[in-house]
Amino acid sequence: MDDVKNKELLIVYFLHQTHIWDKKEAHMKITYFGHACFGIEVSGIHLLFDPFISGNPLASQIEKNTIPADYILLSHGHGDHIGDAVDIALRTGAKIISSYEITDWMKRQGVSKHHPMNIGGKWAFDFGTVKMVAAVHSSSLPDGSYGGCAAGFLIETAEGSFYYSGDTALTQDMKLISELWRPDFAFLCLGDNFTMGVEDARIAAEWVGCQRIIGMHFDTFGYIVINHSEATKAFEQQGKSLKLPAIGEIFEM
Ligand code: NI
Ligand code: MN
Repeated sequence: MDDVKNKELLIVYFLHQTHIWDKKEAHMKITYFGHACFGIEVSGIHLLFDPFISGNPLASQIEKNTIPADYILLSHGHGDHIGDAVDIALRTGAKIISSYEITDWMKRQGVSKHHPMNIGGKWAFDFGTVKMVAAVHSSSLPDGSYGGCAAGFLIETAEGSFYYSGDTALTQDMKLISELWRPDFAFLCLGDNFTMGVEDARIAAEWVGCQRIIGMHFDTFGYIVINHSEATKAFEQQGKSLKLPAIGEIFEM
């Protein structure tokens, strides 16, 4: 009898050691390339969000020709989100995931791999699922073409789930994210002027139901410079953690 019990304990120990039971403890490796651009590695697959490097004066130390990408997710068509998308897609052969209008525009720029989506739609890729969610913002492409609706993304993978807000105002739609999907953490724009500022992002954090927030869309231009210590303090006061990564910083979530 004791032997059976010992065997059971051994199996429990083994399961813990091999992390079969704590999926939530799995980590994603994230690299911040400045502005709203993040590289995220999920099970060896590289996702790249809103690449804007060569046009970003704060990101001059980033060598964009070494950035890996299997998928490039574009929230909307503004230059500070798609600036380097064509170049990186052509170099890496990455597939663009974005609105129908933006993927169609990418096609005209010679990018061959794309997956068109629209608000409310979900699709299963090899790294996990992507749901395109509402953002309150505009979306035109650099040549003035219509970019469809600006969007955010909900990503669910075996290594965890997150919400990427894109550029957006605070909107009641964010409440759906905590009611229906409960992501583990969220990337929220908070530079104000063009998007939510810190105060609204604090409310957004509550509405999307995340304790761990990564800030984005701050400091790049004079219009969106923020006070870092005041911002982190504001989130701490409501029991949440705000990470404002340094450009080039690699961290895990
Ligand atoms: Ni924008
Ligand atoms: Mn923007």
